[in-house]
Amino acid sequence: MLNFNFYNPTRIIFGGDTIAKINDYVPTEAKVLMLFGGESARKNGTLAEVREALGAREIHEFGGIEPNPSYETLMKAVELIREQKIDFLMAVGGGSVIDGTKFIAAAVNYTGDTWEILETHGNKITQALPFASVLTLPATGSEMNSGGVVTRKSTQAKLSFSSPYVFPQFSVLDPNKTFSLPTRQLANGVVDAFIHVMEQYLTHPVNAHVQDRFAEGLLQTLIEIGPKILEDSADYDTRANLMWAASMALNGLIGAGVPQDWSTHLIGHELTALYGIDHARTLAIVLPSNLQVRRQEKREKLLQYAARVWQIVEGDEEQRIDTAIARTRAFFEQLGLPTRLSDYGLGETDIEIIITQLKSHNLTQLGEHKNVSLEISRQILEMSI
Ligand code: NZQ
Ligand code: ZN
Repeated sequence: MLNFNFYNPTRIIFGGDTIAKINDYVPTEAKVLMLFGGESARKNGTLAEVREALGAREIHEFGGIEPNPSYETLMKAVELIREQKIDFLMAVGGGSVIDGTKFIAAAVNYTGDTWEILETHGNKITQALPFASVLTLPATGSEMNSGGVVTRKSTQAKLSFSSPYVFPQFSVLDPNKTFSLPTRQLANGVVDAFIHVMEQYLTHPVNAHVQDRFAEGLLQTLIEIGPKILEDSADYDTRANLMWAASMALNGLIGAGVPQDWSTHLIGHELTALYGIDHARTLAIVLPSNLQVRRQEKREKLLQYAARVWQIVEGDEEQRIDTAIARTRAFFEQLGLPTRLSDYGLGETDIEIIITQLKSHNLTQLGEHKNVSLEISRQILEMSI
């Protein structure tokens, strides 16, 4: 096992009808800004519930944080907070709203050009306003981690940042909030969480038995509940299991003490920035070919994944790896996520554009061995057509 330093200060308030508990954890004198996306949080009553829980506190609203939040929109919230002297942020939404709130929290009192926060991947953050979240979409794990992703519309740059200063103080996870989600977002959530686990698990063995077994448990849970969650009748417990699995997939626990890949995500971010494809859908395109192209370096873990997650024990080693990758692709497709660039009308000429973007963002040495060069990324994309 590798050395590690694990820190996660986020309180999780989990369960049905728990939004009222917010009152216990926000300072009584706080001037609160509720941040949200489009209209979903208002329509399904969540905003009203949060407002009620905040009681007599001074409350302001900032809506319109878009999926894949833009720097341009977030800076408007920064201005409002500075003007109104707001001192506590409450994100109500999915990964986009929570990520956006993290950026805003760090930007309000940042000295210097706030875009630098993203260019330096969060390394220069030294403070942030306190904030919390009410999660409405289980997928990213943002509710329990210290990372975020922000897009600058003007340059089509989708950049990630992280800092120990941007852990939410607490997050409310009420599975009932998922009842208003369209199946597309539920399916995206299953696949995003699945691939978060894969980025931290499917590398090479370092005798990290606890992390491996936790990761395999999460993958098996997602495989089991994935198809069920898409049925209209999906019950509270299925939703609760998705919500907790997605948080556990990216809260630092399974990634402590093991090598991590993240190349699928970094290539995927370019696809979202260039073509607007949903985050999880970009991952469903890239992961199967990524595993195929890099099957030699990932060989031992691929065989372990085949046996323990998919119970594939027949055939020689090459066949077992092929079957495991095929089952992974079929799982994404079963959930309704296409796995080919051509499914989005993209082909050879687009690959050139994607490679140019990777180069301009300095993403030329990806993966757990830093050997995913532009040439390897090109092979992965070509195999994804
Ligand atoms: O904007 P509204 O009207 O709220 O609608 C949203 C949005 O259109 C809707 N929605 C959310 N909760 C709902 C709901 N609709 C009905 N009922 C509800 N309860 O869902 C749509 C998508 O929301 P979004 O927040 O964009 O989705 P997601 O949670 O998948 O977040 C994606 C963003 O997170 C980043 C991605 O790159 C992307 O920008 N990620 C963040 C990570 C992190 N912080 O650790 C890791 C991830 O790998 C990912 O990169
Ligand atoms: Zn993701």
